[in-house]
Amino acid sequence: MTDKLIIFDTTLRDGEQSPGASMTKDEKLRIARLLERLKVDVIEAGFPASSNGDFEAVRLVANAIKDSTVCGLSRANDRDISRAAEALKGAASSRIHTFIATSPLHMEKKLRMSPDEVFEQAKLAVRFARNLVGDVEFSPEDGYRSDMDFLCRVIEAVIAEGATTINVPDTVGYAIPELYGTFIKTLRERVPNSDKAIWSVHCHNDLGMAVANSLAGVKIGGARQVECTINGLGERAGNCSLEEIVMAVKTRRDYFGLDMGIDAQHLLAASRMVSQTTGFVVQPNKAVVGANAFAHASGIHQDGVLKARDTYEIMRAEDVGWSHNKIVLGKLSGRNAFKQRLVELGVTMESEADINTAFARFKELADRKSEIFDEDILALVSDEEGSNVGEQFGFVSLSQHSETGERPQARVVFTVQGKEVTGESDGNGPVDASLKAIESHVRSGAEMVLYSVNAISGSTESQGEVTVRLQNAGRVVNGVGADPDIVVASAKAYLSALNKLQSQADKVVAQG
Ligand code: KIV
Ligand code: ZN
Repeated sequence: MTDKLIIFDTTLRDGEQSPGASMTKDEKLRIARLLERLKVDVIEAGFPASSNGDFEAVRLVANAIKDSTVCGLSRANDRDISRAAEALKGAASSRIHTFIATSPLHMEKKLRMSPDEVFEQAKLAVRFARNLVGDVEFSPEDGYRSDMDFLCRVIEAVIAEGATTINVPDTVGYAIPELYGTFIKTLRERVPNSDKAIWSVHCHNDLGMAVANSLAGVKIGGARQVECTINGLGERAGNCSLEEIVMAVKTRRDYFGLDMGIDAQHLLAASRMVSQTTGFVVQPNKAVVGANAFAHASGIHQDGVLKARDTYEIMRAEDVGWSHNKIVLGKLSGRNAFKQRLVELGVTMESEADINTAFARFKELADRKSEIFDEDILALVSDEEGSNVGEQFGFVSLSQHSETGERPQARVVFTVQGKEVTGESDGNGPVDASLKAIESHVRSGAEMVLYSVNAISGSTESQGEVTVRLQNAGRVVNGVGADPDIVVASAKAYLSALNKLQSQADKVVAQG
């Protein structure tokens, strides 16, 4: 047993499966680069066989990332595994993660396969994958609700076929910490060749215990890999939160006795980037990265912290990236200060020309807003990517008229495959009129299931960040847009959601 805990981040795969959290390939690349700076050991970049878009995203990430292993998910069949291997070809270090369900319920109702068929397929899949890459992870989906004897049989067989990591998912978030920890321990004791693989935990948060269950899997079960996501993003109630598990193991090193490679200084930046990219806002009281995580409101606490900070603080805010956050840029900030800030925020730009374009937009914003916060810079960079050539729809300009007692009118100019079009409409309010103006042209038929506005940095001088969630033909996507004018931010968010609907059109049903 080693004393190193491997951090396997699946924000770009399991996290992305959260309804509305789909990301473009450029967004995935930007987050992957920050995960690499965070020194995550393994980045699960996607599920290449699920769509051409996901294949391209995994390929892009695999070609760019040098210091983390890049992983692709595949079902336990030759086609999926070959697609994953193909997407990962350019990686400095690659892993194929293959899975098949092993619980009685999933085998009978979902797969309609007998246990013996599942056993054979698991073996063949791992054998096939091992002929393509040296690093193969196997997951028995819904493992925690599987029969112990059957699970031991499957795991022994896949390790014999060369699986190097065995991941035991609590796919539906049903586990209880002590029971899950003991489950992993029993598996490790009963599988004869268990010492030939690294054991991993993968917990969902349906009962709010994903982090606690993962920690029990490590402490009681002896697992040495944790699968997790930034902000706990993921299907339904999400996955184990990376920032929480990392800070628990670091802060209580006295108890866990484990080391990790993670550079926690980038945790806040990663949380912000994922939140702004997906439109999933972080709750203020979220551990480690929530706005109130280090705020002491009561007089007694404030007094205590001023006298000795460890009276009420068990972690230092600056250790997870909070101190950098205070620096504010403005109209007079130069290109170098801007570039430095991008680096600190974990944003990597491909070329000096890209930095120049972003800097020009920063200057434009600084003309309209006296203080530019980190959130503004991240929003600006996301917006820049959203306006990428190659996207179906792009924002150009907007004008609207509203007056008390009159029905607002809006005129929106936007591009459709690079060609400018103009839409006009009235509406209940300026936002409604603007989105209807876009729809008058696009006729997407999508239903809006969420519209939210958030002041990025807290005041009325702030940029408004708008999230629009659209649903169409069983697909759900979030679009995010930011601007000091919330009507413009809304139009940008709407167009970004339409782009995502378009790019999700060919995606296969996601896994747990
Ligand atoms: O939750 C789950 O079972 C999964 C597997 C695909 C690992 O995400
Ligand atoms: Zn999962």
